[in-house]
Amino acid sequence: MNNMVWCNRAIFLLISLFLANNALVVLDALHNVPNHIKNQPYRTGYHFQAPKNWMNDPNGPMVYKGIYHLFYQWNPNGALMEVNDTVWGHATSTDLINWITHSPAIKPSRPSDINGCWSGSVTILPNGKPVLLYTGNDRYNRQVQNLAIPKNLTDPYLRHWTKSPENPLVTPGDANHINSTAFRDPTTAWLGRDGRWRITTGSQDGRRGLAILHTSRDFVRWKQSMKPLHYHDGTGMWECPDFFPVARTDSRGVDTTAFNGKMVKHVLKVSLTDTFHDYYTIGTYDQVRDVYVPDNGFVQDETAPRYDYGKFYASKTFYDSVYQRRILWGWVNESSTDKDIVNMGWARLQAIPRKVWLDESGKSLVQWPVKEIESLRTTQVKWGNKVLKGGGSVMEVHGVTASQADVEVFFKVSGLDLEKADVIEPGWTDPQLICSQKNASLVKSGLGPFGLMVLVSKNLEEYTSVYLRIFKARENSKEHVVVMCSDQSRSSLEKGNDKTPYGAFVDVSPYQTISLRTLIDNSIVESFGGKGKACITSRVYPKLATGKRTHLFAFNKGSQSVDVLSLSAWSMKSTR
Ligand SMILES: *[C@@H]1O[C@H](CO)[C@@H](O)[C@H](O)[C@H]1NC(C)=O
Ligand SMILES: *[C@@H]1O[C@H](CO)[C@@H](O)[C@H](O)[C@H]1NC(C)=O
Ligand SMILES: *[C@@H]1O[C@H](CO)[C@@H](O)[C@H](O)[C@H]1NC(C)=O
Ligand SMILES: *[C@@H]1O[C@H](CO)[C@@H](O)[C@H](O)[C@H]1NC(C)=O
Ligand SMILES: *[C@@H]1O[C@H](CO)[C@@H](O)[C@H](O)[C@H]1NC(C)=O
Repeated sequence: MNNMVWCNRAIFLLISLFLANNALVVLDALHNVPNHIKNQPYRTGYHFQAPKNWMNDPNGPMVYKGIYHLFYQWNPNGALMEVNDTVWGHATSTDLINWITHSPAIKPSRPSDINGCWSGSVTILPNGKPVLLYTGNDRYNRQVQNLAIPKNLTDPYLRHWTKSPENPLVTPGDANHINSTAFRDPTTAWLGRDGRWRITTGSQDGRRGLAILHTSRDFVRWKQSMKPLHYHDGTGMWECPDFFPVARTDSRGVDTTAFNGKMVKHVLKVSLTDTFHDYYTIGTYDQVRDVYVPDNGFVQDETAPRYDYGKFYASKTFYDSVYQRRILWGWVNESSTDKDIVNMGWARLQAIPRKVWLDESGKSLVQWPVKEIESLRTTQVKWGNKVLKGGGSVMEVHGVTASQADVEVFFKVSGLDLEKADVIEPGWTDPQLICSQKNASLVKSGLGPFGLMVLVSKNLEEYTSVYLRIFKARENSKEHVVVMCSDQSRSSLEKGNDKTPYGAFVDVSPYQTISLRTLIDNSIVESFGGKGKACITSRVYPKLATGKRTHLFAFNKGSQSVDVLSLSAWSMKSTR
């Protein structure tokens, strides 16, 4: 480490002492970043990104002695993925927003992980000590499960990790009926009443996706259970399983010791390599049979609900014991070409960490950006009671940094107008298709599209629209269907990017207010409909609408008018 870095670290510590809880300006994270990476329009201001190069899955998130840790799949050598070189990047934070980057926590070094240190999880043992389980791609290119523990528990940053001499602890193979190239991403362990730890690991057997179960008394010797925790035919590989309890009546999080079926439900999330989306089901963990049973109406396949209907994959939650909440991390892909990625020198980012809990209905999860990000809000613009007239109104939101903002709007539609809404076509069961341009133009348009145009260039050459549409479920019905869309088709003059429009149904009654919150951060647009009942994340790369040249609008292109009960927009400070 050179003197400059030491010097900055000392300054950083001094600043930390004085500012205590204030947002910390972290000085050392950008140290090794070449200038051309720092000065790019598409690097984000307040999302977590690696200082450079390729990043994917979030790994082993936890809080230890009041410090949040985020590990992540990282390629130390370049901006594209090289599975054989993958290490565990490592960063820490006191507020989930400002991060210090450390050197990688785990790198390939042993026969059991020499071809890559892949995803895994941390478990905090009852004595407070963290242990880490990760998948190693071994010297035979088999996927095996390995263990590592912190070298120095008094180092709050846990910078150094020791691999177990017993690695690999769990191996695939014919004897175990585990496919050796499809056995990865162990979950956080949970302790059964029988005193045995359990982990589940993703796998596939033909087209059957599996969450294989292993148990152990000492965390070192693991035994495969006869039955998987859960499986489903026809899905292909289950990656990055996540299995956790949620409280039935409360938005507070619970840790994995919570089993009481009266108090909690369980969630199983899997990432399907077939579609590259994350799907969850809600159900019951049957402790006697040691299996997970999804509730009626849930199937663990691509019909299950998604955390996010845009770009969001390989997610993982952890229990934050400091604020009794469960927090979800998920990584967000690029939409650009490999050539552009190599030029940028970095790829992919993490979505803003989200608090996640069970909706009152018990039938879905709700997600909301952690409250800490509100500390980045600066200038606020506030509107009250404005009308967005039908037939194409567009109103600019002046006075915020439109390239880096947090916007929340509450819309209200009159009951009379709701009765005039278009009836949804019976075949329109896929919200993404409803949001696609072609299908939208088929509708004569009544209630919506209304919403926000973000990352807009001066003359509207470029914009991304995040909007709502309301349909009647049937003729003469008071039931409605609310669709939320994120349309990237006009986001950039650049031609080669993926601009697929995304859509989601939002389970809210339009007779009440409908809210839409959007976090805008240079090249990412993260939107939350109905107070977090539906989420859509997209990546865009405007050519004109960058930095100070960016505008923000509210709009209504439907034929009926819509009230904006309130709109708040804040400029957002940068972190790091
Ligand atoms: C990883 O390394 C192994 C040899 O150890 C090689 O067979 C395999 O092709 C490599 N995979 C990639 C994607 O480079
Ligand atoms: C462990 O970490 C603490 C705090 O950073 C440090 O003071 C101590 O020297 C470390 N111990 C060893 C053996 O490295
Ligand atoms: C084993 O996993 C690989 C993916 O790595 C898959 O292509 C193959 O079909 C799987 N084999 C079986 C028998 O499931
Ligand atoms: C990420 O995006 C690229 C480019 O659009 C695509 O080829 C790739 O399949 C995506 N990967 C995942 C895991 O979504
Ligand atoms: C969307 O429109 C296309 C034609 O533009 C049509 O082929 C497709 O069936 C429509 N989808 C739905 C769900 O109506």
